[in-house]
Amino acid sequence: MSAPPLQPVLIAAELRGLLEPDQLQGLEVTWLPSDTATPTGDWVAIIPLLSRWVGGTQLKSLPALRIIANCAVGYDNVDVVAAEMRKVIVTNTPDVLTDATADLTWALILACARRLVEAIDLVRSGRWTGWHPEQLLGVHLRGRTLGLFGAGRIGQAVGRRAVAFGLRIIYTARAPKPDFERDTGATRAEWTGLLAESDILSLHAPSTPETKGVVNSDTLDRMKPGAILVNTARGDLIREEALAIALEAGRLGAAGLDVYADEPAIHPRLRAAPRTVLLPHIGSATHDTRRKMAATALANVQAVLQGKPPLTPVFR
Ligand code: DGY
Repeated sequence: MSAPPLQPVLIAAELRGLLEPDQLQGLEVTWLPSDTATPTGDWVAIIPLLSRWVGGTQLKSLPALRIIANCAVGYDNVDVVAAEMRKVIVTNTPDVLTDATADLTWALILACARRLVEAIDLVRSGRWTGWHPEQLLGVHLRGRTLGLFGAGRIGQAVGRRAVAFGLRIIYTARAPKPDFERDTGATRAEWTGLLAESDILSLHAPSTPETKGVVNSDTLDRMKPGAILVNTARGDLIREEALAIALEAGRLGAAGLDVYADEPAIHPRLRAAPRTVLLPHIGSATHDTRRKMAATALANVQAVLQGKPPLTPVFR
């Protein structure tokens, strides 16, 4: 009996080093570098990075496509409505990156609260003259309030870690999260309450028409003076120039950001603003996590091409 024909798939070239040959069995792979436009052809699956827009035009040029297996938990780079209209399945990579992203969120919270960037710069510059009782004083965490804008997997994981730091937790979510509340003492709040009460405000919502620009000059004005803003979700939740102005004016204590509205560009005023910790979108960047993300995307492709249901569809 002859082997079934190989299935033509497009996979982001940058994922090559994270995949094992046996994961690619049955596939004829075209490796697609992120700086190359999506080609036209009869590929049946695509595994894009989050930086590749897959919309109506791309779907039109891939008429045989059956699945877009996004290699990220966020899927705002995919036009899911256009995909659904063409009966193309969309999947993402939830769960496998929850811990890594929650850990990095905490790295940002601690770096902001304890002024790590300034401290490292001081040592590196050779200008450190020794211990001083009032040197680089930061924010004491115990007893402060952590506000979580969004309490899905990652938001909750950030909240669970907050218990060990003695923080009070408030969160926004469409529906209450009873297990999370029971385990952490967290209480659900309105967005306005979160702005008014959070000493640390951490964003954990996807980019949607409702959440885009949710942190803007008006909402920044309503935050507690000296509060810390952290974003490991999506950059366009924040109006970057407004944030830069709030930091310049000293209204905000600090901002810890891993994501930006127009990556890899960062608004020049924000890049130059004081009291920032700016990271290059590394929330999920651990060896284990990135391998699991690539494996999840591939497993979705293999399932769909074998006529099975996808493992992690974005809509059921
Ligand atoms: C995601 O998966 O959406 C993350 O932003 C990648 O780190």
